[in-house]
Amino acid sequence: MFNHRQFLKVAGMVAGVLFAWPIRWVKAKPLGLKLDKVEKLKNVGRWAILKIKIKKKPVLFIRTSEDTIRALDPTCPHKKCQVQYNEKINQIVCPCHKSRFNPDGKYLDGPAKKDLTAYKAYLRKNMIVIDLDKDH
Ligand code: FES
Repeated sequence: MFNHRQFLKVAGMVAGVLFAWPIRWVKAKPLGLKLDKVEKLKNVGRWAILKIKIKKKPVLFIRTSEDTIRALDPTCPHKKCQVQYNEKINQIVCPCHKSRFNPDGKYLDGPAKKDLTAYKAYLRKNMIVIDLDKDH
């Protein structure tokens, strides 16, 4: 049947699958933030940049409607300044060299030339649920 070398090879592959699978699952687990705790995001059209404790990443949230929220990496693709949402013009603007993006993070104009990284995010009951794996 199996010789010693074949047995070790198969056992190594099984152990690899068993140990790797939970790590991938944990990485993909979405995070929840209580909407009550974030005053700025209670109303449509408002925004906030929050640091997600587990990932230690800033995330730009924009409340786009009663039922929807956008979550983006606020790091400008040009020279890494932190972008901000401008409620008056409904666009995201980089303060350094004026690149502009729509609320979905799509590039509009300026030197950035690339979209912002978008994350999957949605509202469920009183929670903002965000998955820091990329949206696309
Ligand atoms: S760093 Fe944002 S446009 Fe240059």
